[in-house]
Amino acid sequence: LNKLVVLTTVLLLISSGCITAPKQDPGSPGPAQIGASYSGSELCRFCHPTQHRGWAQSGHARMVVDAKRFPEAVISDFSLPGNPFEVATEFGPDDVILTIGGKWKQRYVVHDPEARAWRLLPAEWITATGSWRPYNADKWNERDYGDLCTGCHNTGYEPKVHAFVEGGIGCESCHGPGAAHIASRNAADLVNPKNLEPERAIEVCAQCHIRGKNVDGKREDALGYVPGEKLLDHYKPLEPNIGQETDAFFADGSSKKHHQQYQDYIQSTHWTKQRMTCTSCHAPHAPTLLVALGNEVCTGCHKPQADVQKHTGQSVVTDCVTCHMPKRATSATEMDIRSHTFKLNQPGPAPKPPYGE
Ligand code: HEC
Ligand code: HEC
Ligand code: HEC
Ligand code: HEC
Ligand code: HEC
Ligand code: HEC
Ligand code: HEC
Repeated sequence: LNKLVVLTTVLLLISSGCITAPKQDPGSPGPAQIGASYSGSELCRFCHPTQHRGWAQSGHARMVVDAKRFPEAVISDFSLPGNPFEVATEFGPDDVILTIGGKWKQRYVVHDPEARAWRLLPAEWITATGSWRPYNADKWNERDYGDLCTGCHNTGYEPKVHAFVEGGIGCESCHGPGAAHIASRNAADLVNPKNLEPERAIEVCAQCHIRGKNVDGKREDALGYVPGEKLLDHYKPLEPNIGQETDAFFADGSSKKHHQQYQDYIQSTHWTKQRMTCTSCHAPHAPTLLVALGNEVCTGCHKPQADVQKHTGQSVVTDCVTCHMPKRATSATEMDIRSHTFKLNQPGPAPKPPYGE
């Protein structure tokens, strides 16, 4: 009966034409056909409009966009030298079905019907420089987006049918599959991270903000994990080797590569001594994903430092994050991602001690 209710709701919504961005992606048959217990964020909107409104404007919602329906999601210039079609000559701009990201860089997916695969085009757009950079140009037509990236960039991916329910980080990435809850309207039928112990709550975010390998030994996402479970039963994160620089970490343990916020953060006294989770500073349904703007993210707790001039004895650098979350890891251009270790004496701008209070 529950399934019938959900299906009827889906059909009703589709026929009334009220499904808006972000939409289901091409090549994706949708939850009913996948047989999954995922419903997609659009259905949550009707009963939770406030959370939906903020979320829809966040980077999470717009991570993966159907480029056929929303061509404006493409932020690059395919006519510039270095564009992916110089290598992928059998494809053109009209073949792009998905855009991935765009804040730091943007990558593109095309469908290869013969191989029944989603190919990642062999060049990526670097937003800060407005130019192209080669991306796995030698083996791009051997890689499949579904095998490599979907657990961290899509919601409800089902490898058996090579399809996902939703592009981007939908409600159900953090709350778990929602079909049963939609039918019952009972809070007990999905996960509210607020009710989890800190170790489990932080893992809701860590399932994607991490780098390592799935316990299946192949995938690099945590596919198979569902919020509320123990992430490490599904995933083996890379670990820093303090004192020694490695591929993914500096010698002090801070990340060199991007999407390692979890590995950074569990070194912070915010975690080791206070068990603060990501949501102490990040609001999951706010467009900015932050609980406040600027220094106020910090000064709610760190009142003595709120007078930065007094705290640092100078008035040139006044943002807490410039000194305490220096940009050290790399996504698109060298060191464009902030550190989350909150360790003291991080490399950063002047001044040096002694400080004011
Ligand atoms: C038909 C209406 C309806 C739909 C659709 C719906 N919900 Fe709910 N949701 C509710 C109601 C009613 C409650 C409050 C239940 C209670 O307090 O026991 C609730 C509670 C919740 C809670 C728990 C809040 C708390 O206080 O702990 C979360 C999280 C949640 N919903 C997420 C979702 C997500 C995610 C979706 C989409 C997959 C969704 N809901 C779709 C009606 C709905
Ligand atoms: C990035 C992860 C994430 C996404 C995506 C997300 N949520 Fe949440 N949601 C949370 C967390 C974490 C909490 C608990 C907040 C807290 O600790 O106060 C929460 C709490 C809630 C609650 C309880 C009331 C509240 O606001 O605290 C509702 C209802 C809810 N979410 C609905 C949704 C809906 C609907 C969507 C999609 C439109 C959504 N969430 C997307 C992480 C997420
Ligand atoms: C299913 C994977 C996934 C989950 C779960 C997830 N994230 Fe993300 N997050 C991403 C991706 C992918 C991006 C990049 C989005 C973009 O480029 O705009 C991102 C971006 C962010 C950003 C930067 C946004 C910006 O526009 O600057 C913050 C902050 C963030 N996530 C915090 C969180 C927090 C906090 C949680 C848990 C409550 C969480 N994320 C859960 C995948 C995820
Ligand atoms: C373990 C999870 C994970 C895997 C696997 C993963 N990513 Fe990401 N990716 C993220 C997160 C989280 C972010 C945003 C935070 C950051 O970069 O620090 C991100 C950022 C990005 C960005 C930049 C987004 C922007 O707005 O600029 C692109 C593009 C991207 N990923 C593409 C891919 C592709 C393509 C693959 C597969 C080959 C992939 N990612 C695999 C988690 C992952
Ligand atoms: C919810 C409260 C809270 C918020 C928000 C918060 N902090 Fe903290 N922070 C603490 C507490 C409590 C400690 C002390 C940890 C301990 O027990 O040693 C701390 C410690 C620190 C330390 C010292 C670390 C060390 O190794 O001694 C720095 C630096 C710091 N925070 C910076 C920040 C910055 C920057 C922000 C904003 C981006 C921020 N904090 C946001 C509560 C908070
Ligand atoms: C003590 C506060 C605090 C905590 C806890 C925290 N963050 Fe952040 N995070 C921030 C601030 C502040 C920024 C924004 C910096 C800026 O404005 O550029 C940020 C930025 C980010 C970004 C964007 C990357 C970038 O370089 O701009 C991601 C992704 C992110 N956080 C994920 C997480 C995740 C996942 C967790 C938990 C594992 C977490 N954060 C815990 C304060 C925090
Ligand atoms: C110009 C750089 C700079 C700025 C801006 C800055 N700090 Fe600091 N802060 C430091 C230095 C340096 C220390 C001493 C320890 C260290 O080397 O990190 C420190 C120490 C701290 C500590 C540890 C306790 C203490 O007072 O020694 C906290 C907490 C802290 N800062 C929070 C903040 C907050 C919150 C902001 C923003 C309102 C901020 N800081 C702005 C450089 C800065």
